[in-house]
Amino acid sequence: MRTLCIDVGGTGIKGAVFDANGAPLSERYRIDTPRPATPEPVMGVIFEIASNVTEFDRVSCGFPGVVQDGLVKTAPNLDGLWGGFEAEFEISKRLGRPAKVANDADVHGLAVIEGRGVELVLTLGTGMGSGLYVDGACAWNLELGHHTYNGEATYEDRVSDAARKEIGSKKWRKRVRSVVDKLEPIFNFRKLYLGGGNAARLDKNDFRANVVIVDNAAGMLGGLKLWP
Ligand code: BGC
Repeated sequence: MRTLCIDVGGTGIKGAVFDANGAPLSERYRIDTPRPATPEPVMGVIFEIASNVTEFDRVSCGFPGVVQDGLVKTAPNLDGLWGGFEAEFEISKRLGRPAKVANDADVHGLAVIEGRGVELVLTLGTGMGSGLYVDGACAWNLELGHHTYNGEATYEDRVSDAARKEIGSKKWRKRVRSVVDKLEPIFNFRKLYLGGGNAARLDKNDFRANVVIVDNAAGMLGGLKLWP
């Protein structure tokens, strides 16, 4: 079974084909997210990636917003009218294969969790994504990024890529630490995973042993877990 795994981000759209064990069967393609990132051009990029890769049997897609039953509810870091967009149906129709679509952070976490106890994932990219798992089951669409951090700015406002560019990576790293410090006594996670495109900018030594920095490839690989 060959799965084309797509990771739609606010900055880039990535895709590659993997076998059932997660071994890559194609190159990894990355195309800048078109701006404005309205449904048509984003679908166009997904189609372009699909046309470039080798054969595949099905498609998994991590999408940067709330997705319920294959239907997009929100897309804060994209543009235009995504609410109500039938992502699963549209991808499946255009690519001629069955498709599954879920929140990008939820998908990311599925690739890295151990499946034991409470595990939390935060993705640090254009925005801040979050995924919560209990004994391996995902509590879909947790949106911690939009919770207010200090009654005013949200977690996403504080640790987004735009914030990092504004304040510099050193201060940004401090902010990520303070987000983790705030969340630990609330979720009492066994493990916390920090992923997303900016995770590579973090220093493992800044965190306790139950915090793991993970590779951004998880954003694609987790898509394999969307299928039974
Ligand atoms: C969205 C989340 C998404 C995250 C990372 C946030 O703005 O609300 O659904 O997971 O960005 O892309």
